[in-house]
Amino acid sequence: MVQVMLSEATQKKIAKLKDRYPEKKTAILPAMHVVFKEVGYYNQNILKQIADLLELSQMEVSETVSFYTYFPREGVGKYHIQVCTNLSCSLLGAEELVKYLEYKLKIKAGQTTTDGLFTISTVECLGSCGTAPVMQINQTYYENLTKAKVDQILEDLKKGK
Ligand code: FES
Repeated sequence: MVQVMLSEATQKKIAKLKDRYPEKKTAILPAMHVVFKEVGYYNQNILKQIADLLELSQMEVSETVSFYTYFPREGVGKYHIQVCTNLSCSLLGAEELVKYLEYKLKIKAGQTTTDGLFTISTVECLGSCGTAPVMQINQTYYENLTKAKVDQILEDLKKGK
């Protein structure tokens, strides 16, 4: 685990958030957005700093953050591929899509490629059931997926597009 010390500016922003909400726990997600901008991922060391700044326990922060897949953990590849495997996506081939990604990238879901480029995760509903099957890579949604579309997406990302 990398020992990251949050910058003074980030610490100040998080400390301010603590007083903005009547319930301190409400400040956890805004604080994560601040951290995400600076560091781009989180680990237990970072969660401890957030907890201290918000005067919460590390467990409270950890429980909240782990519920959301939006924030990547340390060790996640440059491109975090999150495939929805909930009902609508599942009915339209999400599992097949996961298998195809595993085959293309030569890793299993939950793993990262050795070049650190891709991580595959399966996630709950991404809120775009009407355009299933859906995956999210970092902040971008990819919808109505087919194997051909996946091929194109992976090629573009490998080229840095
Ligand atoms: S079930 Fe996949 S986006 Fe809702």
